[in-house]
Amino acid sequence: MSATPFAYDGGRLHAESSDLAAIAAEVGTPFYCYSSAAIETAYRSLESALTGLPAKIFYAVKANGNQAVIRTLAQLGAGADIVSEGELHRALAAGVPPDKILFAGVGKSDGEIVSALRADILQFNVESEPELRRLSQLAQDMGRTARAGLRINPDVDALTHAHISTGKADNKFGIDIASARELAGRAGDFPGVKLEALAVHIGSQLTDLSPYRDAFRRLCDLYGALRAQGVPLKRLDLGGGLGITYRNETPPDLGAYAAIVREETAGVEAELAFEPGRFLVGNAGVLVARVIYVKEAQGRRFVIIDAAMNDLVRPMLYDAWHDVIPVDQATDNAPWSPADLVGPVCETTDTFARDRELPPLKAGDLLAICSAGAYGSVMSSTYNGRLLTPEVMVRGGSHAVVRPRGSFADLIAQDRIPDWL
Ligand code: LLP
Repeated sequence: MSATPFAYDGGRLHAESSDLAAIAAEVGTPFYCYSSAAIETAYRSLESALTGLPAKIFYAVKANGNQAVIRTLAQLGAGADIVSEGELHRALAAGVPPDKILFAGVGKSDGEIVSALRADILQFNVESEPELRRLSQLAQDMGRTARAGLRINPDVDALTHAHISTGKADNKFGIDIASARELAGRAGDFPGVKLEALAVHIGSQLTDLSPYRDAFRRLCDLYGALRAQGVPLKRLDLGGGLGITYRNETPPDLGAYAAIVREETAGVEAELAFEPGRFLVGNAGVLVARVIYVKEAQGRRFVIIDAAMNDLVRPMLYDAWHDVIPVDQATDNAPWSPADLVGPVCETTDTFARDRELPPLKAGDLLAICSAGAYGSVMSSTYNGRLLTPEVMVRGGSHAVVRPRGSFADLIAQDRIPDWL
């Protein structure tokens, strides 16, 4: 495999050694395609950067919840970081043992807490006093003790997109340091809970390492202070957030990241947990779409493809850049020129890219929208009555449909028409 799992071979874009045009002919378009080798490479690189540390990796399932993806990571040894009961079921079904599951999120409902207690997961990351009280009560009602961590809001600016920044005091996430200190000192008020950990997650797509250092330092200071007060903490959850290259970003150097972890946790007696999502799967996936029409209007070239904002919403929601490349390598040196790459959904915002340099294109041509393995399929919807896009996983020259395209019969069968209509 080359450095990227998506490369041209004989003029055609391949995923590992699988021909994307051949998959398109079989599965139809649009479809997501994931490289299992790329996921494995990303996992191994993080694992090896963390060598020597008492570290465990919990894959943030929200990035890509397909069970084939979760299983790929589970087989490599990863646990799961979940944020809902649905993700709990996905992780368990994919083969993640409950004692490798962390449950994060500001709004866990009673039903979700009870299901996770029943499954006996490793740890609940609690984000408020009311949640801690509720968790304690529900666990007691079930005759259990919930293992918990307090998610700290360290008031650190992650220097990333505002929509995916979570560690500032005015974000909804976590508990401020003073309140956490106070809460941890009142463990007796929460008899159904065993407080074992402190957690932090300051944001996503971080490319600058300094916010990590600040956050880890504050977390470790608090950890030391609480241990000195006799709180029996044993785990630090350092969150996720490692950025990847979408365009020209320089992702954090893993060695430098691990060095910060080593420095900031030196002398701290704790197991370490990490919750990467995007880093493990983001560049392991592409969204393959077919050109439906090319329309020239008002001096602009609109390339209308069969994927839309309901399939991949990141460009519309975060102004995110995704590289777009032709599946058939442009070999004739025809000049590339600006185009607006748009989907069929009835909204102007259904635009993947504006003024993007693209080769000459015609109806039927295939394009790959890159870096779509994370927060792609999981954020999709059936808006405009569109079917959820299928997902394909590749291993070498073999591929498997890991989520088939739904059917229109299934889509409309979701609704119920009351008898009084
Ligand atoms: N842990 C917690 C508590 C999180 O909230 C998140 C992501 C992660 C771990 C994983 O972060 P990652 O390693 O993937 O950066 N939809 C947005 C990203 C939202 C991230 C939400 N939380 C996007 O498409 O950029």
